[in-house]
Amino acid sequence: MSTPAPSVPNAKRLEGKVGIITGGARGIGEAAVRLFLSHGAKVVIADILDNLGEALCHELGEDVSYIHCDVTNEDDVCKTVDFTVEKYGKLDIMYNNAGIVDSLMPEILNTEKAKFERVLGVNLVGALLGAKHAARVMIPAGKGCILFTASVASEIGGFSSYAYSCSKTAIVGLMKSATAELGRFGIRVNCVSPYGVATHIADGLLPVEAVHFEGLLSKVGNLQGVVLKAEDIAQAAVYLASDDAKYVSGQNLLVDGGYTIVNPSLAMGFSSFLGQA
Ligand SMILES: NC(=O)c1ccc[n+]([C@@H]2O[C@H](COP(=O)([O-])OP(=O)(O)OC[C@H]3O[C@@H](n4cnc5c(N)ncnc54)[C@H](O)[C@@H]3O)[C@@H](O)[C@H]2O)c1
Repeated sequence: MSTPAPSVPNAKRLEGKVGIITGGARGIGEAAVRLFLSHGAKVVIADILDNLGEALCHELGEDVSYIHCDVTNEDDVCKTVDFTVEKYGKLDIMYNNAGIVDSLMPEILNTEKAKFERVLGVNLVGALLGAKHAARVMIPAGKGCILFTASVASEIGGFSSYAYSCSKTAIVGLMKSATAELGRFGIRVNCVSPYGVATHIADGLLPVEAVHFEGLLSKVGNLQGVVLKAEDIAQAAVYLASDDAKYVSGQNLLVDGGYTIVNPSLAMGFSSFLGQA
């Protein structure tokens, strides 16, 4: 059996592949659209921000398409997958990235049922529908890659609202179930879980401007000297979508500079104690 050549830096890692990116009109999804395209993929942006999605499509040229798709609407998701297969002949990568947040803090007494269900609807049910309709066309093809954007909130408590945390933790469960069921059809399933990235997701919720938020996130992060950008999450998605990851399935790839495995509270407590002594 021949072994494929290892990939080289700057190689087009997604040459010939076709992908859908939900929430691709801006933020992490937009960064993924741009990077997938630069790696040779044809990309369908599925979003509800029609003006932004269409403008991006116009800017990037004929290998990128836009379709209005509310991921909570199964008919929209079904049509998005069918549109992609009709236009490009297949679907190799389904990147379920669309997401919303309702609040930055876990406050159970302020958790409203309707808002909780709305976040679960977009983040979790939307991801399920994306995976379901991708599997519908990937199973007969005998191959495919399903990705989800989860979050560090899938690993630790206290990072976000109850709704957001529950949705992202459940996405990891969804990923594991799909990994187990779809492996026999040659379909790989993984999550990318970012630490905080300064995008528009928390517009209206932040007490500070996005640029200051980025500084704050970097300051309280574990890995110092670098700033996490949407492009860094896109790089992880390209890796998982590419043949470089051909045997990688069932992973929740945390792009967090080690944040979720470090608990600095004891060290901080000692420093503070010694500083005061
Ligand atoms: N920014 C962060 O700090 C961060 C951290 C961890 C995980 N994430 C996750 O990354 C993903 C992308 O978020 P982002 O930070 O780029 O935010 P963003 O708000 O910039 O982008 C989210 C995109 O999802 C789209 N979207 C929202 N609801 C939709 C729906 N019902 N149907 C289709 N599209 C919809 C939006 O229109 C937007 O284009 C989300 O799943 C988010 O939870 C973000």
